[in-house]
Amino acid sequence: MYFGADYHPEHWVYPYAGTPEEPESRWDRDGQLMAQAGFNVVRMGEFCWGIAEREEGKYDFSWLRRAMDIMQRHGIKVVLGTPTASPPLWLAQQHPEILPMNERGETLHEGTRRAYCMNSDIYWEYAKKIVREMAGALGDHPQLIAWQIDNGLGGHNTEESFNAHSKKDWHSWLQAKYETVERLNEALGLRFWGQLVTDFSQVPMPMLSPTVHNPALVVDWRRFCSDTCVAFVRCQADILHEITPNLPVTTNLRALTRHFDHFDLAQVLDFVSVDSHATIKARSAENACEIDMLRSLKKEGIRTPDGECGFWVIEQKAGHVNWQEVNSLVRPGVVRLFTYQLISRGADGVLYFFFRQPRIGSEKFYGGVLNHDGKGENRVYKEIAHLGEEMKLLAPAIKDSKVAAETCILFSHDNAWSMQMTGQPQKHFNYREHIQLFHTAFHDRNIPVDFARPTEDLSRYKLVIAPSLQMLAGGEADLLKLYVQNGGTLVATCNTGLVDEHHIAPSDGFPANCTDLFGMEIVEFDPMPPGEENHLTFKGSFPATHLHPARLWCDLIEPKEAQILATYAKDFYAGRAAMTVNDFGLGKAIYIGTVSHQHFYYDLVAWLRQQCNLFPLLKVPDTIEVSMRQKGDRKIYFLLNHQNSHVRLHFYKPMHDFLTGQTFTGNYDLPSHGVLVLDETAPPEEAKPPGQAEQPEAAAQAVPVTEEGIIDNAPVPA
Ligand code: GAL
Repeated sequence: MYFGADYHPEHWVYPYAGTPEEPESRWDRDGQLMAQAGFNVVRMGEFCWGIAEREEGKYDFSWLRRAMDIMQRHGIKVVLGTPTASPPLWLAQQHPEILPMNERGETLHEGTRRAYCMNSDIYWEYAKKIVREMAGALGDHPQLIAWQIDNGLGGHNTEESFNAHSKKDWHSWLQAKYETVERLNEALGLRFWGQLVTDFSQVPMPMLSPTVHNPALVVDWRRFCSDTCVAFVRCQADILHEITPNLPVTTNLRALTRHFDHFDLAQVLDFVSVDSHATIKARSAENACEIDMLRSLKKEGIRTPDGECGFWVIEQKAGHVNWQEVNSLVRPGVVRLFTYQLISRGADGVLYFFFRQPRIGSEKFYGGVLNHDGKGENRVYKEIAHLGEEMKLLAPAIKDSKVAAETCILFSHDNAWSMQMTGQPQKHFNYREHIQLFHTAFHDRNIPVDFARPTEDLSRYKLVIAPSLQMLAGGEADLLKLYVQNGGTLVATCNTGLVDEHHIAPSDGFPANCTDLFGMEIVEFDPMPPGEENHLTFKGSFPATHLHPARLWCDLIEPKEAQILATYAKDFYAGRAAMTVNDFGLGKAIYIGTVSHQHFYYDLVAWLRQQCNLFPLLKVPDTIEVSMRQKGDRKIYFLLNHQNSHVRLHFYKPMHDFLTGQTFTGNYDLPSHGVLVLDETAPPEEAKPPGQAEQPEAAAQAVPVTEEGIIDNAPVPA
């Protein structure tokens, strides 16, 4: 388990720290404070290009080596960031053609990070040189355990750039994909509005224009930009693997915000790292959803520095940010709570951003582990140092453990890009929110969930949820059929299969290529303004606890072989099917033709649990988040209280808490923002803090309790 911070030694030299005689003298104190906080890793160097190569070809990494030596003295390992996120001024001034251009054709000028176009061959050449130099200069340092490639790839909307380099590469990309202009014209449907081309060089980039570009062209543009990002990372990964074959590479990703295919990118990395802003978000379920998605990007072939098979949180915000209108302090206990949320969902490394609030630059009012004063007497430092103590207790317990899910939610970037386009049937339909309705239902019922793209092998999952795959490729539809045919349960929803991979609508009914799978056809769909509602009337065994609305979108379903589970209650389609189930091969394909409120998804999960034999991890009050990491038969439960008040738990069996070393039975009040890390087995010797004994008498008096609001350590029957 790695625990540490993002450190910028370049901020802490004279005159901002240190003395004229010893400009770097502060670094040792920083190392001491890190060690005292239980840190064993730092990330450094990600913005150092303009310092390490002040003039072209004059490289100096000796200062970074000195900083690494100091880390060594304090027992702290190092991840180095390649500095390509932030090109030096001289490079842009010498080669202004590397600068990115926005969709209006305006150049984005040098003077900040990310001022480069990822399609620029010149930029690639310089980037390759600095990466090679850095790996050559520092790759042999004993503290170095991994590389981070670039930083915040695609940040500030730099996934795309519309300059001459991009245009050239765009045309080559299209040529490689379609080979002939005839195929290109056909696949992209360019005869619409008469936009046929006679040569690849005529294909426009989707720049600012009077109205919307052809969606097929825009999706291809996004794929092209994504492939560029992936190629840029791969190019650096290849150099780093060549020079330092034993060191894994990663980069810092965010869920659902950047326009590149995160699954593709993760394949180029040895392990995934993420930026987490969890502490400033109000809803824990949204964070949980994003963490699950990021964890799921890479499921095989993971190579972390210590051989663990999870992901890293390489930037966990230690405090407030500087980009909200009001950047309030993060309340006591909240950083700890969200740190455990990340670990509970599979993180094997957590580094706080940043170690100390900088005195210089544009992020000086961002929270850090240390305040500007660097004394180590501030509240956040103390909280994180306390966590450092807990990590020492926890690390042996969670070693080699991982999150195991039997349910998965499908997500595809192509589909997200398709739905982001204007000209949708329903502007108010939000893909992210639709996914969240499902995820929240599983999250609140303590059922672990993975994400996957539709092309993955889904056979490991009992249940697959496919919310609104509007763009569904023929091959993807075939794989879904295979999954169900072999016994899987699939749940799809409205706004599925409206177009294929070329953004062409089907001529034989919605959902495209899947009418046989679902045993029905959607003959029309009726998007509804926000605020208007229809209602669902259920047939058969669906356990409806509320009157469930049909909102935003109503598919008018014509069942063929499918059975009807629910119908609409009113409008001209009153009595027509809204929800169906079809037996297909050995499995079931369920279709929900509308969007409802959260209670519907809770009921759906209750029903699906029975259908698929799924068990919640523990039975606890609804307000407690439970996750589990598993190592063989050993299960480690994390209980998180996101409320501002305590929550009473009842322990039916004795449970051992790794953080206090105590064994709990009977009633226990989990305080506001409190965390428990529990297992049912005897605590391993190394995990017990000195002087903390078990309480065998209390355990012996445990009485089974069955009402709601207890911890019933055994799996809850369906
Ligand atoms: C990250 C970035 C950091 C910092 C942070 C602010 O994406 O890597 O350098 O700017 O955002 O939230």
